[in-house]
Amino acid sequence: MVVAIDGPAGTGKSTVAKMLADGLEARDGKPFTYINSGNLYRAITLGCIRGGIPVSDTEKVLEYAKSAALDYINGRVCLDGEAVEDLLHSDEVDKLVSPLSSIVPVRHVVNDIVRRIAAGLNAVVEGRDMTTVVFPAAEFRFYLDASVGERARRRFEQKVSVLSREEIEASIMERDTMDRNKEEGSLRIAEGAVYLDTSYLTLRQVYDKLRERIQELRMEHGSNGSGNGH
Ligand code: DC
Repeated sequence: MVVAIDGPAGTGKSTVAKMLADGLEARDGKPFTYINSGNLYRAITLGCIRGGIPVSDTEKVLEYAKSAALDYINGRVCLDGEAVEDLLHSDEVDKLVSPLSSIVPVRHVVNDIVRRIAAGLNAVVEGRDMTTVVFPAAEFRFYLDASVGERARRRFEQKVSVLSREEIEASIMERDTMDRNKEEGSLRIAEGAVYLDTSYLTLRQVYDKLRERIQELRMEHGSNGSGNGH
């Protein structure tokens, strides 16, 4: 069973996806794995920064992405055996990850990793193209949205950026434009996906709405929760 969630940054996707992976019960009794595909792009970006590879050098970036050992262990992304989760949200990674994720063959590397990790498991996967490209046949597909102002406020409140709220808003808009105009895997609402605006909702409310919708869809489809969406 695959729950796929897409949407722009700052819509609560990651937290809610994690909550769902912890809280959902699959009828096959197996636990859910949580996969944040954005963190895989961020880990490759971190590796490039460390190795002095400019994101403009697409050949070298691809070579690096293919050689890097990327995995998810206990819901946390590991790069060459190192848990790097806490290093992935710096302003430098933020700035470089969007151009890096625009490199089509790098997207294929990440898509393969996500599919490999999710294979045969129950998974909650999130990103920009999980519902459109990576798991277009997933039984449960969601698109989370929120206004730019609210997303900037949320990021500012996290206090992980040295930027002002206005600068954060500008950088979010720049990233949105890049994410919506990618040659492949661009951010868009998949046909048939459930759309939810989270601007005025708490994380708990978003979680409850998604759970509710999953229950309804299960009843409608008579799902036994074992479909894997591959
Ligand atoms: O979700 P995030 O903000 O951590 O994602 C980081 C970047 O990676 C963002 O610019 C969008 C991009 N991304 C992508 O292109 N495709 C995905 N499936 C996930 C993220």
